Amino acid sequence: MVFPFRLPGVNYYGRGAVQYLAGEIQKERAKRVFLISDKGVAGAGLVDKIKNLITEAGAEVIEFLDVEAEPSVENVELAVKTFQEAGCDFIVGLGGGSPMDVSKAVSVVAVNGGSILDYVGIGLVPKPGVPFILIPTTSGTGSEVTQNAIFTDKQEQLKKGVVTEYFLPKAAIVDSDLTMSAPPKITAATGMDALTHAIESYTAPKATPQTDLYALEAIRLIAKSLRRAVAYGADSEARENMALGSVFAGISLANAGVGAVHALAYPLGGQFGVPHGVANALLLPYVMEFNIVGHVAKFAGIAEAMGENVAGKSKREAAFLALKAVRELSQDVGIPQKLSEVGVTESDIEGLATATMNVTRLLGNNPRKVTLEDARNIFTKAL
Ligand SMILES: NC(=O)c1ccc[n+]([C@@H]2O[C@H](COP(=O)([O-])OP(=O)(O)OC[C@H]3O[C@@H](n4cnc5c(N)ncnc54)[C@H](O)[C@@H]3O)[C@@H](O)[C@H]2O)c1
Ligand SMILES: [Fe+2]
Repeated sequence: MVFPFRLPGVNYYGRGAVQYLAGEIQKERAKRVFLISDKGVAGAGLVDKIKNLITEAGAEVIEFLDVEAEPSVENVELAVKTFQEAGCDFIVGLGGGSPMDVSKAVSVVAVNGGSILDYVGIGLVPKPGVPFILIPTTSGTGSEVTQNAIFTDKQEQLKKGVVTEYFLPKAAIVDSDLTMSAPPKITAATGMDALTHAIESYTAPKATPQTDLYALEAIRLIAKSLRRAVAYGADSEARENMALGSVFAGISLANAGVGAVHALAYPLGGQFGVPHGVANALLLPYVMEFNIVGHVAKFAGIAEAMGENVAGKSKREAAFLALKAVRELSQDVGIPQKLSEVGVTESDIEGLATATMNVTRLLGNNPRKVTLEDARNIFTKAL
């Protein structure tokens, strides 16, 4: 078996890892840094903290705090315009997936021109962009280590993905202290997004022995710590486990891809504005139930990694314990369990199922083939 494995230039992990930012800024000889974040992250005091570190490294900082959650194409355009007016030579993306993805877009659009929509698909960005560093403040998307960025196309009411090797940052700094202020609902949704990355990439046709290592460890860490991180956000050990779980899931996703959960979640985000983590978390058990037959042994492995007692069980019995474990975790951390809870009605199913079938990049990487009829059935079960 031949397989590539990609990572950012350097990764720093652990509490206090953010101290390495200054050295990275100096190494890159950055003079004027465009710091991309959002108001929630700024409100938690994290923008000031990072600003001080960049200033101490001898560079100027220009802030852009107008990133919206689940960023739109228009939001990216505003960020690119502001970047160009500011005359910066380096980008630091600080926040959850939204500011990190906007940072990636600004980097490549500033150099290649056009709109981010011109690059939707795989490998369509011609040249590397402005150099950048990513610093996550949620334990969820893994965007700091992936070649992906996701944007909301308001016209088509769909989330769209750009995949390019130029989205790998110079450095990813994963410091769990920066996640301590994330409120319980965001901790729950983002944590379930990370679990979805681990489960989908572990069971994907593109999974490799190397991604399996990361995916299984991510599942263990998240299953062990998500409840605690949601219930008692000040638990630094739970936060550290979640940060590692999220980045390990991201590394697995970056190299093995995700599948039908994300494909079904895209129109749910685009048409109903359901946050990415919530959409994935809600759909995950229904898609797992559909997928188990596609890779029974791997689903049995997930059950074990989630702490289920699989001794004496057949692989099939163990596989269904994975489903039970995910359902219980999702319920315990307060995720909505039904589409009707997020405003979906029966008459919406056809549109959702049809839109899902356009997400061919992800459906092609699912352990079981998904037809339009299957998509309808999964949405109907989840209603
Ligand atoms: N690029 C990828 O590989 C990838 C993977 C999965 C998801 N995504 C995308 O990422 C986006 C979602 O990212 P997200 O789930 O991290 O949420 P987010 O970035 O939209 O943040 C959600 C909210 O949490 C707040 N927040 C973040 N960190 C905080 C902290 N430490 N303290 C207090 N508040 C905090 C933000 O201000 C915001 O209001 C979606 O657009 C999704 O499609 C990208
Ligand atoms: Fe995701």
